[in-house]
Amino acid sequence: MATSCVHMMGSLALSISCLIIINTIAAADEQRRLLQAETVFDITKYGAKGDGTTDDAMSLIQAWRAGCESTGGGGDFGPAREILDGGSSPKERCKATPPMIIDIQSTLLENPNPSAYSNEKWILIEHADNLKITGGGTLNTQGANAWKFAKEEARMPVSFTFQSSQNGDISNLNLVDAMGFHSKLIDSSNIKVTKMTITAPDESPNTDGIHLSNATNVEITDSVIGTGDDCISIGTCSKNILVKNVKCGPGHGLAVGSFGKHPYELSVGNITFCSCTLTGTTNGARIKSYHKSLVMTATNIVFEDLTLDSVKNPIIIDQHYFSKMVAEQSNVKISDVHFRRIKGTTTSEIPIMFNCSTTNPCENTELADIDLKPVGGCQDRLICLSERHRNQAFRHCHPSSSHLLGFLLTSKRME
Ligand SMILES: *[C@@H]1O[C@H](CO)[C@@H](O)[C@H](O)[C@H]1NC(C)=O
Ligand SMILES: *[C@@H]1O[C@H](CO)[C@@H](O)[C@H](O)[C@H]1NC(C)=O
Ligand SMILES: *[C@@H]1O[C@H](CO)[C@@H](O)[C@H](O)[C@H]1NC(C)=O
Repeated sequence: MATSCVHMMGSLALSISCLIIINTIAAADEQRRLLQAETVFDITKYGAKGDGTTDDAMSLIQAWRAGCESTGGGGDFGPAREILDGGSSPKERCKATPPMIIDIQSTLLENPNPSAYSNEKWILIEHADNLKITGGGTLNTQGANAWKFAKEEARMPVSFTFQSSQNGDISNLNLVDAMGFHSKLIDSSNIKVTKMTITAPDESPNTDGIHLSNATNVEITDSVIGTGDDCISIGTCSKNILVKNVKCGPGHGLAVGSFGKHPYELSVGNITFCSCTLTGTTNGARIKSYHKSLVMTATNIVFEDLTLDSVKNPIIIDQHYFSKMVAEQSNVKISDVHFRRIKGTTTSEIPIMFNCSTTNPCENTELADIDLKPVGGCQDRLICLSERHRNQAFRHCHPSSSHLLGFLLTSKRME
């Protein structure tokens, strides 16, 4: 089995590390009606075997290069070794007339050996504007063996990274069993992600479904995500994000953050999660920051119309994320956060937990139409709020059916 790593980048966009095996290749024109003047670059024509053992990475890269060179003319592609210099040479954009489409109709298998990756990435697409990626195919990372090595300091490779690109359209892909995060959108804007299925077991560590970092104007819709970590996590410098109609579970739920781990982090804002369903997740709607961080803000965050089934922490702002024993307070200022129309069942005795920074208390936090019933019987519900609202107990248990008692909060606004 070929296991050598191939790093391609050059002046264009696609960097593939390691083993890519195409099991079944169907010529693109058999499955999809060609657009006018569309040219197909079938990777089997570039030597891909698709036999489950041969490393086909080079074929994919060659097909990509041919596509980029084909229209617009004059693509200037550096030799492969340029790619290894970490991109110090200027990166030119793909010359093809948009849209360039990557049509993945088959299953790509990743080399399951995590040490085969030097740059913590499997598939990296960067500097590729107006790109469409679709096809109904699968990126299977075969990550199970890597999970036991996953640690904070030994990050496992990200399966799919989409970086420094604008006007992207990513749809109809299945991501399976990533070693680390399943996908990251980084330094990109105007991106639509839809009809994705992301699947990994509950116990796979750090396998976030989709992570955003410095992403602007992003829509993630109509997707099903179940992993061992956050279904979607919105990180540093992300703005104008809409997550809609996503089914999440198992996993750690929908998250804004965490913040405060790295010194370069920047403010986030205008983030909306709506019409999502969470099943068996540890968290529902969550905002999280470490105790320490640069001064930054997280503002205008809306979680609405969420349906929860057996969720442990349905609504949680945790500014002592992984730093419970540290007295130091977070400098992330969280404001204008709206939790509306969140209903369903919880396994926790504390369905709503706001543990905000005491030096930068959360401001203008709204809870409206929250209807959470315990999976078992009724316990006293304790809402934990920071500072002025600390430890207020709300005994809102009320009979909602013959045998279930629940928690209902119709509207509460906190300064
Ligand atoms: C964010 O991404 C944009 C490209 O979309 C880039 O120009 C900018 O430098 C990035 N900002 C940070 C802080 O990385
Ligand atoms: C949020 O959106 C509003 C309206 O489009 C805009 O004025 C504001 O600057 C945005 N805030 C952030 C943090 O992006
Ligand atoms: C918030 O977190 C701090 C630090 O872990 C802890 O001491 C405190 O009890 C928590 N507050 C609430 C209201 O849960």
